[in-house]
Amino acid sequence: VQAVWLDCDPGHDDAMAILLAGYSPALQLLGVSTVASNQVVEKTTRNALDMLDLIGLTHIGVVMGQAKPLLRPAALLCPEIHGETGLDGPQGGPVLPHSGRQALPGKAAIVMFEAIQQHYGRQPQQRVQLVCTGALTNAALLLLLYPEVAGMIEITIMGGALGVGNTGPVQEFNIQVDPEAARVVFEAGVPLTMVPLEVTHTALATPEVLGRMFSRGGAGSISPFKALVELLLTFFASTYKDVFGFHGGAPLHDPCAIAAVIAPSIFKFELMRVDIETVSPLAAGQTVCDIWHQSSAPKNCRVAREMDVDAFWELMLAAVDATDLA
Ligand code: BDR
Ligand code: CA
Repeated sequence: VQAVWLDCDPGHDDAMAILLAGYSPALQLLGVSTVASNQVVEKTTRNALDMLDLIGLTHIGVVMGQAKPLLRPAALLCPEIHGETGLDGPQGGPVLPHSGRQALPGKAAIVMFEAIQQHYGRQPQQRVQLVCTGALTNAALLLLLYPEVAGMIEITIMGGALGVGNTGPVQEFNIQVDPEAARVVFEAGVPLTMVPLEVTHTALATPEVLGRMFSRGGAGSISPFKALVELLLTFFASTYKDVFGFHGGAPLHDPCAIAAVIAPSIFKFELMRVDIETVSPLAAGQTVCDIWHQSSAPKNCRVAREMDVDAFWELMLAAVDATDLA
C-alpha cells in the first residue's frame, strides 16, 4: 500500500480524484491540501471537505493552501468549466451536501511536510507519493521551505501537454495558473511523473461508461450517491461541450494522475526533459517537452504517453462502488 498526499483544487475531476485516492485498496490517503485554481481556495477547500464527508472519509484532514500563485498577482480561475462554486451541478450552484467540517489549522506546506516526514520516518523504504491535480503552488513552497523533502517523495501531476493546451494555445491550465511554481517542481530533482492532456483527454466519461457505472452492483436502480456523481459529470460534460466543443463526455483528467500511482503498468511512460516556459507572453505556462531527446539537460520527467482506458475505468468504477457501499 502506497502512502499518498493529494494536493488539489476541486473541481469536478478533482472530486473524482479524491474518491479514487480515498477508496483504492492500493493507497493510504494521508491527507488533502487545496490550492486556488479552478476556484478561489476557500471554495476548493469547501469542496474537498464536502466531498470527503459525502464519501465517508471524515477522518481525512484537509488543509487550505495558497490563495495566490508564487509570483503572479492572482490565480486564473475556471468558472466557465467548474461553475461559480467550483463544483456546480446542472442547475448551477452546489450539488453536494454542505458538511460543515472545517479545514485543519496551519499552513499547507508545513502540514504537508509534517505528515510526509512522519510517515517516511516510519517507512523509509518507500517514498510518499505527492499527487498534484491543481496549480503547483503548494508543492513548490513545500520544496522551497523543506529541500530535504525531495528525498522523501515522488511527485505525480496532472498537468501540461506535449502539444496543444486547453486554457491557452500551448498551455494546460494547472501549469498556466502558476508557471513559476511548476518550474520549481520540475527543477527540484524529485522523481516526477506528468500525466498530460493528451492522456487525460482519453478518460472520457461517455454515456457508455456512465451506463456501466449504473449497471454495476445489479441493484436495478441508481443509488443516491451515483445520482450525485451523474449530476457532477453532466455539468462537467456540458461545460466542456460549450467551451471546447467536446462531445462524448467529461474528461476525468485528475483521477488519471491517481491511477498512475495505483497502476503504473496501465500506462506507457517516456522519460524526457521537460522545461517550463515562464517568460513568453504568448506561452508562459507551456510544458516544453523534449520528445526528440535533443536536449543535453538531464531528463527530469516521466511523461505518460498512453493509458489503457478500460483499465482506468475499471479502477474508477470499482472506487465508485466501494464508496457506495461504505
Ligand atoms: C485541469 O484543469 C482543471 O480544470 C482540472 O481540474 C484539471 O486539473 C485540466 O487542465
Ligand atoms: Ca484539478
